[in-house]
Amino acid sequence: MKDAGYEVAVFAGDGTGPEVIREGLRVLEALGEGGPSPWHCTEYPGGGEYYLRTGREWEPAGEAAAHSADAILVGAVGWPGATLPNGDLAGRALVLGLREGLDLYANVRPCKLYPGVRHRISGEYREVWAPKNVDLVIVRENTEDLYTPTRGRLRRGGETEVAIDTRIITRKGSERVVRHAFELARARARGAPEDGVRRLTCVDKSNVMEGCRFFRETFDRVGAEYPEIERDYAYVDAFAQWLVRNPEHYNVVVATNMMGDIITDLAAVLQGGMGFASGGNIGTDHAMFEPVHGSAPKYAGKNQVNPFATFFAIEQMLRWLGGHHADARLVRQADRLEGALARVLAAGQARTYDQGGTLTTQEAGACVSAAIRSGSR
Ligand code: IPM
Ligand code: MN
Repeated sequence: MKDAGYEVAVFAGDGTGPEVIREGLRVLEALGEGGPSPWHCTEYPGGGEYYLRTGREWEPAGEAAAHSADAILVGAVGWPGATLPNGDLAGRALVLGLREGLDLYANVRPCKLYPGVRHRISGEYREVWAPKNVDLVIVRENTEDLYTPTRGRLRRGGETEVAIDTRIITRKGSERVVRHAFELARARARGAPEDGVRRLTCVDKSNVMEGCRFFRETFDRVGAEYPEIERDYAYVDAFAQWLVRNPEHYNVVVATNMMGDIITDLAAVLQGGMGFASGGNIGTDHAMFEPVHGSAPKYAGKNQVNPFATFFAIEQMLRWLGGHHADARLVRQADRLEGALARVLAAGQARTYDQGGTLTTQEAGACVSAAIRSGSR
């Protein structure tokens, strides 16, 4: 526990990032009222747009703060035309760079459908899944696989040109993320909605790929230390259909980086869309939290996008800080925030455009701040 409070380095980033982060900071302010705030947020510039203006992805002060802060909150990165000389996304330093640089090996993405949230499939708003049937967490490996920069291009421009991405799966990388997922399955209050069983599903393509066979072997070896957790297996292609058909079967899911990237966007549909999807990038002593939706340049500056993903990212951040520092104050604040979010959603109060509503980003934020203030402390 840190009496002086926790330092949070905030990077609003690109596109809609600043709009959702602004509301996120207001919500944090509402939570902190009436006592000495247990956190201090400091904002730093950075991202693709910033790179176009300045030639730098971020400033040394921001980079230093990201390394020394207790937690990091990122809005979004990516801006049309903003690419580094080597072709990479400008602003990657804030997301991919921090994942690599701080060794944030587990990308933890909760997928829970709250009562009152709608889905949008083929352009219609409907209730396909009962809220009680969608409550899972996907743990994605976050430092290796096809994301390792072991790639290149040969014979550029010629007829025999070839591009190569090499898939790296290591014992250490697999072991730590699989262990993180088993620990999470152990710590979660509930098992799968279907049957209450504490279950960890390993998603891979081990019927074809060596790296996946290695990952699954690791899953079994580490899993032997967790006899109370049911080990479950799915090839990624089959998982894609089962997840949509029977989300109630899933409790905690673990996957390698690239497959995890894809299945978490698919899973976001089950929780109401990307407007609700948050992710925690967790390492040994560092963690970075973000809404997963990205910068959505089309909506930038329109005060339209759904800020809930950012609110859920903040909830995840407070919960992680509380757990990591054995600080019950922070866990209590995370519970308060989740309670306020659930109340606002259940009342159908905060429907932004993606939910078929007309509420603005700011109005949605104001609803949540009001719910925090009127709720119990
Ligand atoms: C995500 C994003 C990133 C990723 C992009 C922005 C590089 O899609 O966090 O899922 O691929 O990991
Ligand atoms: Mn993604």
